[in-house]
This record gives sequence, C-alpha cells and structure tokens, in this order.
Amino acid sequence: MPEKNIAEVQRQAHSRMAQMGFTFSRDNRGFIIAAQGYLMLAGIGLLINGSLLADGASRPAFLHLFTLGFMLFMIYGLGSHMLPRFTGNPVREGVWPWWQMGLAHAGVASYVAGYLLGWHGLVIVGALLAWLSLAVFTFRVWPVLWPKKC
Ligand code: HEM
Repeated sequence: MPEKNIAEVQRQAHSRMAQMGFTFSRDNRGFIIAAQGYLMLAGIGLLINGSLLADGASRPAFLHLFTLGFMLFMIYGLGSHMLPRFTGNPVREGVWPWWQMGLAHAGVASYVAGYLLGWHGLVIVGALLAWLSLAVFTFRVWPVLWPKKC
C-alpha cells in the first residue's frame, strides 16, 4: 500500500478510536483544559469577596464560572469521551464539538460579563449562547444513548 494511503488509514482509525472514546480527541482535551481554567477564574471570587458566593451582582457571575464554566465543560469533555463505550455508538464529531465549545465559551463570557457590568442584555445573550451549546451537545450524544439494534 502506498505511504499516503497508510497515513490516511491511520488517520481514519485514530479518528474512529477517538469517536468511540478509546483515545482522547482534541476537542475533549480542549473541554477539560477549559474546565480547569474556569475553575481558576471562579476561585478569583473567593479572593475578591472572601467567599465563593458573596451576595450581590458577583454571586451569579462567579457561581456560573463554576457551574457553567467548570462543571459543564468537564461534563462535555468526559461525557463525549466515555458515553460511546456504553452503547458502542459513536458520538457526532467533525465541526460539531467546535461549535459546541465556541458557543459555550461565548455564552459563559457574556453571561459573566453581563452580571459584573450590570448589562442585562448581555446576560440574556450569554444565556442563549450557553443554551445553544447544550442543544448542540444533545444533538451530538443523542445517537450514543440508544443501544445498537443487532
Ligand atoms: C444556559 C445555562 C444557564 C443559565 C441561562 C442559567 C441562569 C441562571 C439564573 C438567571 C439564575 C438566577 C441568578 C440570580 O440569582 O439572579 C441562576 C441561578 C443558579 N444556577 Fe444557573 N444557569 C445556567 C446553567 C447552570 C448550570 C449548568 C448549573 C449547575 C450545574 C447552574 C446552577 C445554578 C444555581 C445553583 C443557581 C442558584 C444560585 C444562588 O443560590 O444564588 N446553572 N442560573
């Protein structure tokens, strides 16, 4: 087999392994690294307010840096990495995880900035973007949730 074809076969095999959760895909690595970053940012609330959840406008901002930023990104990364093993169905890859990630980053950033700046329009934009990212994730994992018909 020519060398170019071998490389292509290897690339396809690696992509299929990532889809099935055997190897770690680039997007899942990105989700988990981002989760760590949001955890650090949420901790800034602790430094500024002396408490993770102080009363006032910063409460929903720092809370959602933790929940939407840390918890949701961790669920995104680990969920699409591990769930395919349970039914044997691949998760939807390609451009979809990158849309999901971009929408989630833009959503968290707008939501948090909106609360900190007191711009409620920005909070709503952030909420919609975060919701769209959840919709993309649902679309990606939907086929994974059902057992294969033998
Ligand atoms: C589309 C995504 C989300 C939107 C638009 C959203 C929106 C909101 C809003 C508007 C509030 C009330 C804030 C206030 O006190 O004025 C709230 C509170 C809260 N949210 Fe979210 N949220 C989202 C995702 C999440 C996620 C993923 C979690 C947990 C994993 C979460 C956990 C909470 C909790 C625990 C509270 C109550 C906080 C408190 O006691 O002050 N949220 N959320």
